[in-house]
Amino acid sequence: MAIALLLSLFFLSLFHPLHSSTDSFIYGGCSQIKYSPGSPYESNLNSLLTSLVNSATYSSYNKYSISGSTQQDVINGIYQCRGDLAMPDCATCVARAVSQLAPLCSQSCGGALQLEGCFVKYDNTSFIGDEDKTVVMKKCAPSAGYDPAVMGRRDAVLASLGSAGGLYRVGGSADVEGVAQCVGDLSTGKCQDCVTEAIGRLKTDCGGAVFGDMFLGKCYAR
Ligand SMILES: *[C@@H]1O[C@H](CO)[C@@H](O)[C@H](O)[C@H]1NC(C)=O
Repeated sequence: MAIALLLSLFFLSLFHPLHSSTDSFIYGGCSQIKYSPGSPYESNLNSLLTSLVNSATYSSYNKYSISGSTQQDVINGIYQCRGDLAMPDCATCVARAVSQLAPLCSQSCGGALQLEGCFVKYDNTSFIGDEDKTVVMKKCAPSAGYDPAVMGRRDAVLASLGSAGGLYRVGGSADVEGVAQCVGDLSTGKCQDCVTEAIGRLKTDCGGAVFGDMFLGKCYAR
């Protein structure tokens, strides 16, 4: 009985990877500049992060700016949940991301974290609304020889992601699945430009790989 349950959980996790891994860590990074413990920066950052977590209960994207007493105390924050996440899952994901950012970026002025289901970023430099095509994380399957049939389906999926429009895009061709997501502060044009860049890099950097992940500063394609 216990083994049957374990087996069915195992198969569930095989066939529903997107659902079971919403909280999986993809990347995280922190700015070099630190703030002083107990400073206004710290309390402003805490209220900013609380605002992000609260907002994720009703919106899949939001941005906040908190102004302190001086110019240097302004902190900008943003989050974006993957477009297919229901609200309770979005809130859970953003809460997890924020709780992982605290130990990861202890006393850093800025930090960013991407989980499977959501992205969170804050900094006291201005970045909201700006496009950012820096490659933050990429992963390609080990090359197993070039299979023209698979690559044809990959190219079809990537082309459909490129032309789908919107912040969240999905595409599929037989066994090949694709997903792309922009952060919601990007305009339609900037999102399109970012996704086009991610797709182009997947093709060049991941060559004949059967899967690839390309995470840029404000968008990704997989
Ligand atoms: C960010 O905050 C740190 C620490 O208070 C400060 O040294 C830095 O100049 C600030 N940066 C900006 C762009 O305000």
